[in-house]
Amino acid sequence: MSETMAMMAERARECAEEIRKHDEIQLVSHIDADGITSAAIIAKTLERAGIGYKMMFVKQLDETIVEKLADINPKLTIFTDLGSGQLEHITNYGLNAIVSDHHRPQGDTKFHLNPHLFGANGSYEISGSGTTFILATQLGDNRDLADLAIVGCIGDMQYRKHGKLVSLNKMILEANPDIISPKKDISLFGKQTRPVYKMLQYSSDPFIPGLTGKEDACIDFLSRVGLQFSNDEKWRRWIDLSEEEKVKVTSSLLQHSMQSGMSSYNIGRLVSEGYILLAEKEGTEMRDASEYSTLLNATGRYMKAEIGMQVCMGDRGEAYREAQDLLSNHRKNLVDGLNFVKDNGIIELSHLQYFDAGNAIPETIVGIVAGMSHSSAGNRKLPILAFADKEDGYKVSARGTQELVNRGLNLADALNIVCQELGGAGGGHDIAAGATVPFGKKEEFIQKLNSAIKAQLVKT
Ligand code: C5P
Ligand code: C5P
Ligand code: ZN
Repeated sequence: MSETMAMMAERARECAEEIRKHDEIQLVSHIDADGITSAAIIAKTLERAGIGYKMMFVKQLDETIVEKLADINPKLTIFTDLGSGQLEHITNYGLNAIVSDHHRPQGDTKFHLNPHLFGANGSYEISGSGTTFILATQLGDNRDLADLAIVGCIGDMQYRKHGKLVSLNKMILEANPDIISPKKDISLFGKQTRPVYKMLQYSSDPFIPGLTGKEDACIDFLSRVGLQFSNDEKWRRWIDLSEEEKVKVTSSLLQHSMQSGMSSYNIGRLVSEGYILLAEKEGTEMRDASEYSTLLNATGRYMKAEIGMQVCMGDRGEAYREAQDLLSNHRKNLVDGLNFVKDNGIIELSHLQYFDAGNAIPETIVGIVAGMSHSSAGNRKLPILAFADKEDGYKVSARGTQELVNRGLNLADALNIVCQELGGAGGGHDIAAGATVPFGKKEEFIQKLNSAIKAQLVKT
């Protein structure tokens, strides 16, 4: 066990001791895949320990929600995948709380479990679900929940930095080879659930020139590779292909990508380590950590996190079917969002680029669209900022690259500095962060953030 893991386990043991003193606990979690898996891990753990709970999912934690919680006045609240950026509010309102999170901490509290406190970076070494899994293992034999821990960190794209899971995430993986199996494979969405040509046609991250969005071209490409139909003439899914066929298609795809002028960065992303959940049925979204996390995002980001949570808790009936419906809607919204950015363009300043989606893209997915536009077709020399309208201001999502982070970029800090000057609240990670900016302050915000980022990059 690494020193960091041992320190986190020790802090988790202290938190577990506090949890055992209660018979009814308020849970609060984030609406994305990492938040939903975190919620399911702690809820299952409490169920097994015979402790009752109430669940609350939130888009983000702010003072209003902390105040609302203080009114409910639970004896103990467990925050998962959020809270570390709002410790001041939690303390000010006198909540007895356990915070199991991986966002950059602002302030501290007694029962605070966060990798940043023990020398690890919560943007790629462990996520909210992994952190909460460590807590769960201190409350009983909950090792079987390791698969949810991996789904959460995949949802948060923690494999991005190294093209695979590393550090604490890898330790969780390697300690549970009977539960999750890593496999180097093509990285496109839909390996478990889509006919191969559909998998190619709907590939949006990365965008494959000549294939993405073009059904005939995809069918044509596969027949040129010599991919046979199955006996009943039905297209097979990627998982139905033999290893030999997979190699053939993959190498032709790499060749096609080079010839069509794709960047080496994007070509490199076509093959990566994927994670198979061995307890799940083949051909379902849950078998593949990446598809599973997208299924969960498709629930939570449309205010249906409870549905995703039920799937994580084992529902393969009604909740699963509803999640599948939400998934097709989500995928459509992502494609529409990417097209909006393509059609409307991105404005470049000296140290950032941005687009304003207004109300054309829901604020809960504008960050995903920003990330996809950035990696698929954007200028990767500058961080990207996306705006979308919200009831109480503008939602801002910011995404950087590892190279920029290495040069000093820290988007969570930059957003915080500017929010302190202009009002609003933000936080997140060095490579990806978000905030709400007050109405009427968008232009000022952009200029100030441009300067803040310039200062970060100059320092190094
Ligand atoms: O709330 P939170 O921690 O869950 O979200 C993390 C966000 O950071 C995700 O939207 C993820 O896509 C983004 N991210 C990224 N690049 C990375 C790591 C995370 O864009 N290398
Ligand atoms: O919302 P978005 O996907 O852009 O969020 C990126 C990261 O910033 C996430 O980790 C999210 O939890 C965090 N964030 C935050 N405060 C906000 C908005 C986002 O800490 N107001
Ligand atoms: Zn998270």
